[in-house]
Amino acid sequence: MAAIIEIPWWNSYRRLSTVLCSECRRPYTLKRMRPRPYSTATTSATKEPLTLNGKTYERDDWTNVPESILSALPRKLHVQPSHPISLTRKLITSHFPKPTYAHHSTFSPIATTHQNFDSLDFPPDHPGRSKTDTYYLNADTVLRTHTSAHQVDTFRANESEGYTISADVYRRDAIDRSHYPVFHQMEGARLWDRTKVPGGNIAKAVWADLETLPKHNLIVEDPNPPTHPERNPLQEGHHSQEEAEAIAAHLKRSLESVVVTIFARAKEAAIAAGDEAAKTEAPLRVRWIEAYFPFTSPSWEMEVFWQGDWLEILGCGVVKQSLLERAEVPQKLGWAFGIGLERIAMLLYSIPDIRLFWSNDQRFLSQFKEGEPMRRFVPFSKYPECYKDVSFWVAGSTSSAAGGAAGGTGPGNAQREFHENDFMEVVREVAGDTAEHVRLVDEFTHPVSGRKSRCYRVTYRSLEKTLRSAEANELHKKVEDILTERLGVEIR
Ligand code: PHE
Repeated sequence: MAAIIEIPWWNSYRRLSTVLCSECRRPYTLKRMRPRPYSTATTSATKEPLTLNGKTYERDDWTNVPESILSALPRKLHVQPSHPISLTRKLITSHFPKPTYAHHSTFSPIATTHQNFDSLDFPPDHPGRSKTDTYYLNADTVLRTHTSAHQVDTFRANESEGYTISADVYRRDAIDRSHYPVFHQMEGARLWDRTKVPGGNIAKAVWADLETLPKHNLIVEDPNPPTHPERNPLQEGHHSQEEAEAIAAHLKRSLESVVVTIFARAKEAAIAAGDEAAKTEAPLRVRWIEAYFPFTSPSWEMEVFWQGDWLEILGCGVVKQSLLERAEVPQKLGWAFGIGLERIAMLLYSIPDIRLFWSNDQRFLSQFKEGEPMRRFVPFSKYPECYKDVSFWVAGSTSSAAGGAAGGTGPGNAQREFHENDFMEVVREVAGDTAEHVRLVDEFTHPVSGRKSRCYRVTYRSLEKTLRSAEANELHKKVEDILTERLGVEIR
């Protein structure tokens, strides 16, 4: 039987489907997560207000951001000269030339819940708002979970026809080699003004602009109609079919040329590294699939066939007119996209582990240089891993994702609901970047008592040195202690 994998909300626009696991080739089903009650696990007992960038934030029941995450705020990898995240940013922005596009990279990561969710039409019960998924400074303030948090403000500023926004974003998440609670995104948008286009004919103006974009000879699979009444609706009453189609075509062509460049560079780097297979590699395959975001319609994701699998690389769509009304530019219409920079950088430079981006080790940093041809990353060494299991009875109902009954009642209460992301955070807090992977290895319900047990395997590996067994034991013991103390679980 196919395993069922619950996927987090920011992937919840993905269609429900059965796919093959890239590692074991067994089929699994992607299941959209249900909204769930908020976890009440807090990470700090202190009541002191938080002071960040000179501003003070009172703590409340929603505060859940740990010190370890706050310490990432000043890093700003996306603007560090010669850092691979910054080089990736520059490669992409070069496709969105000034003055049509203005480039922003210094917006503060601290956003109001209005900016991050409400301004984008997220419904009040959207799971993305949950404390288990998002870092809250307090009930009204979050660390932005996506660059879209700045869409409405940037539309309102009305400085240019288009823009890109590059920034660090924050999400509570699983631990593995491609997930890190801080990562980087780039948002892009392009608008047209009905009052500035000859005869108000937006479709014609957009097609004319599309003609000026670079052409490519990539074969793109795009099997769906530009809009679909149920699956991917036109914003009726706001856009004509012709307008939506023209905007979609401009959006898709703009992004296809980005992906052509990225993969051409990755191929050059592979060939330069002596990878013979890269020379005869099958041509790049790209496809557009229908998607859903609360703030665009119709919406799509772009996927690229990469190392035997379809890899999702960006989300995009026609901007909801409600956002442009909110931004007081109701006469404008256009498109927006969001792309994750780590994933692109990993693929460009063959970087095998997302934690490396945070390394201050010169053996990592010295391999990237502004203005030089793209080179594959050469791993300096792979230090041995050390894994340890932890089994425990969970208090209350469990959820790796699916919701239990009512929300928890507060720290120290044994009936609190267990959420996997709270467990992940304990591991991160204790082990930092030495935690490489956390995996649920067993789960069962006691036939008589009905109690639920979980067993997780934590893989520890330092990227910089050999971890001694005693060190790993010490870390693991600490994880167990904090688990018991904070999450109210009982170690077995
Ligand atoms: N903000 C979305 C995400 O984080 C991506 C997106 C941006 C989608 C802009 C559509 C338009 O997944």
